[in-house]
Amino acid sequence: MFQNQKVSYSGVQPSGNLTIGNYLGALRNFSTYSEDYKCLYCVVDQHAITVRQVPADLRRRTYETLALYMACGLDPEKVTLYVQSHVHEHTELAWILNCFTMFGELSRMTQFKDKSAKHADNINAGLFTYPVLMASDILLYQTDVVPVGIDQKQHVELCRDIATRFNALYPDTFTIPEPIVSKSGMKIMSLSEPTKKMSKSDENPNAVVYILDDKDTIIRKFKRAVTDSDTEVRFAPGKDGINNLMSIYACFTGKSMEEIEAEFAGKGYGDFKLAVGETCADALAPVQQRFAQYMGDKAGLEAQMKKGAEEASYIARRTLSKVEKKLGFVQLR
Ligand code: TYM
Repeated sequence: MFQNQKVSYSGVQPSGNLTIGNYLGALRNFSTYSEDYKCLYCVVDQHAITVRQVPADLRRRTYETLALYMACGLDPEKVTLYVQSHVHEHTELAWILNCFTMFGELSRMTQFKDKSAKHADNINAGLFTYPVLMASDILLYQTDVVPVGIDQKQHVELCRDIATRFNALYPDTFTIPEPIVSKSGMKIMSLSEPTKKMSKSDENPNAVVYILDDKDTIIRKFKRAVTDSDTEVRFAPGKDGINNLMSIYACFTGKSMEEIEAEFAGKGYGDFKLAVGETCADALAPVQQRFAQYMGDKAGLEAQMKKGAEEASYIARRTLSKVEKKLGFVQLR
């Protein structure tokens, strides 16, 4: 579709303040594709309403997520950045794909099981069909690669299954996308329960380091991070807390686990935690600075949203009309 250029596509929900899990598992990797791929990155506000949102917060976080995309180095002149609800083709294709997705497939999604346990009073149909909307996001743009954290891999695999099924009935409709999960940072764990994923919706703010936390807060959170009764900085089975901190440190410094073990040989957890906190805060400082600049220009952000929506709509319209034609919907000119 883009003169043989490959397509990279991903999305982030504006459902909470973004964490270093979102940064290391996803955002930071998006710019890897800027030079060689046609890139589209979306703020998926329609996904966010599968759990209840306070409207003013959702609106604010939508601006913030776009500003963070840019603060993480995504240049809107080179990549398409937009908001999902501004491109109506997403929900239209989602309806069609619902008719090609099996109840049993959706029932097996681990995120649905987790979220419906967490929001037992609101197990709505949107929460159940959420992966179909995600498939629609991806397939509308004839995507080749989807950079995500490990928790989203199952959804991208379902998207592949839906696309393959559709293509078998209506050949050459969709490109089959590939999930790209970076080895480091694919699953950053909670600082207070290191067997659980670090999540922007965690109620305990000490379990989570937010991209926008200030330096003192970041250092304090790492100091309080749950570890074990050992004292040696060593990557080993069962040392979930230390393993997680070492992974975070490795992501920010590019060092291997062996190098980190050597660096902290003979030093205790206290020194190590301080180093992780300082390194993380220093790495995030320039992102925070650029974020503040972008947030200071709301009109500029809105202009970007508009430009991104126009670019995305152009492609989305073409795919949707191809799909509708194949299905036998009457096309009026
Ligand atoms: P969301 O908003 O939960 O997360 C955004 C991205 O951050 C990654 N991530 C993590 N990576 C490592 N460690 C963590 N603790 C961590 N927490 C989150 C996620 O894997 C994700 O890549 N359904 C998606 C959004 C979406 C999407 C799409 C993604 C909607 N449509 C199309 C790709 C393509 C979600 O809820 O991500």
